[in-house]
Amino acid sequence: MSEWLPLPTEDGSFTFFSKTFNEAFHSRFGAKQEAFLKFAQATDLADRAAQPSICLLDVCYGLGYNTAAALEVIWTVNPDCHVTLYALELDITVPQAAIAPPLIDIWSPPIQDILTAIAQQHHYITANLNATLLVGDARRTIQQLHPINFQADAIFFDPFSPRRCPQLWTVEFFTLVAQCLISTGKLATYSRSASVRAAMLEAGLKIGTIPLGVGHQLNDWSHGTVGSFQPPPHSLSQLEQEHLQTRAAIPYRDRTLSDSAETILQRQTQEQQQSQLESTSSWRRRWSLD
Ligand SMILES: C[S@@+](CC[C@H](N)C(=O)[O-])C[C@H]1O[C@@H](n2cnc3c(N)ncnc32)[C@H](O)[C@@H]1O
Repeated sequence: MSEWLPLPTEDGSFTFFSKTFNEAFHSRFGAKQEAFLKFAQATDLADRAAQPSICLLDVCYGLGYNTAAALEVIWTVNPDCHVTLYALELDITVPQAAIAPPLIDIWSPPIQDILTAIAQQHHYITANLNATLLVGDARRTIQQLHPINFQADAIFFDPFSPRRCPQLWTVEFFTLVAQCLISTGKLATYSRSASVRAAMLEAGLKIGTIPLGVGHQLNDWSHGTVGSFQPPPHSLSQLEQEHLQTRAAIPYRDRTLSDSAETILQRQTQEQQQSQLESTSSWRRRWSLD
């Protein structure tokens, strides 16, 4: 039996829970909603779909929800838009388990066929899609995209959370990912952590926030972060800018792109202990976040 058991989220779509990372794959508020809001919408896919072609990079493909939401949005606007997709995923059993009902039923039949083909064949070519799933550690597989000069209009950046999977939130990994972003492109992630934002800045990206909608938690401040080479549409608030001046903004580093999570976390803790920056708890108190 598969180790992946469907777990319902609040919008009726399902997610998985990883025992290895001790974390769910999506927000409990809604897996499908998260894919549309924090990834497809945050990277302006509805507007970009007017182009004759779009290139997508899905970092941490998982159940394929970010890819699925993107394709639904693009082809609703322009069914003729040609999509080139590269997706990176460590564990092939995840996309394979996700193509069974009830998980896959949330997508339209053509998108179900695509998710199934990607999970089973890793390559899928039709008149308006050229999709490739690269299986392995994304720190390695991303390096296959540089020689072919792959440049994405939109990058979905969706690893497990920074404390659980720091190896994919380092300055060095963001630098490799940013090399795959076209000058007008956008990278979106659900994380609004200061260390993640600092790593994105050090990788050469400008950053903006994904603003909260209605009904958010009182002590929350953002739905995530957008990185681009152009000024972001939603600048960081004063609260967020001050967050970047605290010890929480010391980024993860992994110079050889091969360190363990433990080594990367320890390195950051040591740097934080030696830092003269304001403590993050004092910043939280100033902004009444506790
Ligand atoms: C939060 S989930 C992604 C959810 C996914 N975007 C979706 O819509 O279903 C994180 C994914 O990252 C994968 N992962 C973990 N470490 C990885 C690594 N080093 N390289 C590539 N993928 C990794 C996990 O197997 C998991 O599928």
